Amino acid sequence: MGYSMLFRKQMAPEQVFTPRSAEVNPEMYISRKQLESALKRALRGNLHMIIHGQSGTGKSWLYKKTLKDLKVPFMVANLANASRLGSICAELKNLVDREGRSIKVSFEEQKSAEANAVVAKGGLSHTDMYEIGQMEPFEACLAFLCKQSNNKPSILVFDNLEAAFTEPLLKELADLIILCDDERYSRFNVKILVVGVPGGVKEYFYKTPHHNTVANRLVELPEVTRLEKPECNDLVKRGFIEKLHYKVFSETELMEHVAWITDRVPQSVHEYCLELAFTSEESQIVNSDYISIADQDWLSKSQYYSYSVIESHMNERETKAGRRNQTLFALSLCTGEQFKAGDIEEIIRKEFPTSTGGTVLNVPQMLSQLAAGEKPIIKRSPKGDAFTFADPRYKMVLRTMLKKGEAEIVEKVPVSNN
Ligand SMILES: Nc1ncnc2c1ncn2[C@@H]1O[C@H](COP(=O)(O)OP(=O)(O)OP(=O)(O)O)[C@@H](O)[C@H]1O
Ligand SMILES: [Mg+2]
Repeated sequence: MGYSMLFRKQMAPEQVFTPRSAEVNPEMYISRKQLESALKRALRGNLHMIIHGQSGTGKSWLYKKTLKDLKVPFMVANLANASRLGSICAELKNLVDREGRSIKVSFEEQKSAEANAVVAKGGLSHTDMYEIGQMEPFEACLAFLCKQSNNKPSILVFDNLEAAFTEPLLKELADLIILCDDERYSRFNVKILVVGVPGGVKEYFYKTPHHNTVANRLVELPEVTRLEKPECNDLVKRGFIEKLHYKVFSETELMEHVAWITDRVPQSVHEYCLELAFTSEESQIVNSDYISIADQDWLSKSQYYSYSVIESHMNERETKAGRRNQTLFALSLCTGEQFKAGDIEEIIRKEFPTSTGGTVLNVPQMLSQLAAGEKPIIKRSPKGDAFTFADPRYKMVLRTMLKKGEAEIVEKVPVSNN
């Protein structure tokens, strides 16, 4: 063992790749310059903020890392918990109980107009000390944050907006946002950051009772989407080479493969890389054999549901050309968000020239079938003229599970079901 090896900190795969970690691992955090600076700029403005993006794209890590770097104190209220407890206030009370009361800070009321009026009426001392635990939960959260930040701006995050899509919770959230303008609350200098998946945010604007009033107080940040190619490559290299010190036979092949099957969604990148890191743990080598094994393990462990849905849409072995399977294979090659029947037909003809030559393909009908049934793989776009995947994971799984075999027959990678 070389001298330098002795001083290498050996990390375990699960410390490097953490697909579901709520806590940011700063050593593995990939900087996302544009998103971070958009958030930083919005923090300096005077509106509350919304961050949106599909699940697993890194919204929570983005705000946690950025706020921490800026040393802006923040608290996270989980709207999924609010939904479970029946109100946002109940979740805020939880937060205060957990963070505020344990510290037992008291808050000195600033001389607001209201307080002065009371003083003028005589009787009360000119400053009032409040135990944070005695305030109503929303005010207590704001007071706690204000105390932590020494009156500088701080942030109250409402994460998982999509979990709070009921009339009463939306109304409550709208009320809280509007209340922030009220002097009793505004003096704490706290801004609100709402985080959720895209459908959720749009619906929110639409459903919220005081639509305009709330919309006027919010700025929507650019959508958080999958990683850029260099960002995804960085993540793969940092994990396997810098942190795990595995011997990677072809870096390019590995980076391309991971980017392709995970579609560069951060959570999926971690998930797949974790599988591969385990597969290669004993040998500390990453080569194409281990990659194939990891593909199968990833399909059977993490993606079995998607795998079985796709399997249920495939042609039986006996079908001659296996046109449906060719269509599924063509879908896996789509790079855009949306696709039309014409795009798919073009891919099918290019990939399977012999079996499609001089033949009429009824692609629209095939796509309709894949969009129908209890577990559709694709769905029509709102306008109805194009399709998207019903779940982004289907695309990843198609890319991993389908291979073009001999005689233009599409085969599936078998997985063991256990
Ligand atoms: N910038 C990043 N660098 C490296 N890994 C990241 C980054 N952002 C996210 N990840 C990885 O992706 C996982 C999911 O990220 P995160 O929880 O932030 O997604 P999300 O958009 O909040 O998802 P959800 O909508 O389901 O809450 C993280 O646990 C982490 O493993
Ligand atoms: Mg999240």
